[in-house]
Amino acid sequence: MAQDYLKSNPTSLRRLRQSNFIRELIQEVKISHKQFVQPLFVVQDIAKRESIPALTGVFRETAETLIAQIESDIEAGVQKFLLFGVPSKKTTNNFNFDFCAKQIQNIKKHFGKDIFLAVDVCLCSFTEHGHCGILVNDHIENDSTVSELARAACTYAEAGADCVAPSDMMDGRVRAIRSSLDAKNYTRTLIMSYSAKFHSKFYGPFRIAANSAPNTNTLTDHLKCDLQDRSTYQIDPARPKDAFLSSLRDAEEGADILMVKPGLPYLDILSQLTKQIPRPWAVYEVSGEYAAIELLAEKKLIAASTAHLEAWIAFARAGASMIISYGARNAKNWIYELLAI
Ligand code: PBG
Repeated sequence: MAQDYLKSNPTSLRRLRQSNFIRELIQEVKISHKQFVQPLFVVQDIAKRESIPALTGVFRETAETLIAQIESDIEAGVQKFLLFGVPSKKTTNNFNFDFCAKQIQNIKKHFGKDIFLAVDVCLCSFTEHGHCGILVNDHIENDSTVSELARAACTYAEAGADCVAPSDMMDGRVRAIRSSLDAKNYTRTLIMSYSAKFHSKFYGPFRIAANSAPNTNTLTDHLKCDLQDRSTYQIDPARPKDAFLSSLRDAEEGADILMVKPGLPYLDILSQLTKQIPRPWAVYEVSGEYAAIELLAEKKLIAASTAHLEAWIAFARAGASMIISYGARNAKNWIYELLAI
């Protein structure tokens, strides 16, 4: 007689895996499309919307196509967005935030309270050298950058942003933004801080979309060394304590929502920080990690939709309550079709 493992082992784990019904009943982690935030790019002075390498279904939108895209996103169940405005003119100082402000006004005119609109606050799409701040002599100067960021945040709040999201990684920017917003009576505008943002190689497709790659061509030779990448302001991947300190500080300075970015390569950080700091946590599934799944699927090595769902469940399991993903516009469909939630 064949041996019956179930009979002799009261603690079988497979007894609970034998049908979809049982598996559904015992799931610990569930995800909902309501947790998702869709990033949007709007680009000044382009005639038609443009696709972005390996970011399937995501575009550099014109002012017109942006509105149409949001309409179709709402139909698909998306209610929360993160906007990146990309101006056509690059400068070194005294940045002009009007293009982005105009897009925010236009979005709010069309959709009002039907959507929650967060707006990225950074200078990397505005600077000639592509850095997230103002270059003075041989370094990215902290305080002058922070003043410009606070001015950008107020401009976006005035235009109707529900939330401003600083992604620059300067010191003290959350405090400066909160006090500038409060001084202008934008006391209800949220701050979502990219508090644990690592110096990552996974931002590649984004930098094409936002036209924001550090560009050392404009710099003299002696500056190129430290300024060839963002390592003087973003967190070193080998410094998890820095992510903790940065998030703790941003919480104390008034950030309403904290974030870990990228997602999958930093799940350990997400899992620890969400337990250590009792604040709402977002995770940003960044362009390179999203694109990696798309490229594997293009080579027919995996199925895109189920692989994206697996990554998203990992974020929820690690403690994120919000997931910023380029695939947010597919979330409702995939969650209902494939997870049957
Ligand atoms: C801007 C910014 C970046 C991302 C969001 N805001 C890139 C960077 O730091 O170069 C990355 C998002 C992504 O890769 O999807 N500072």
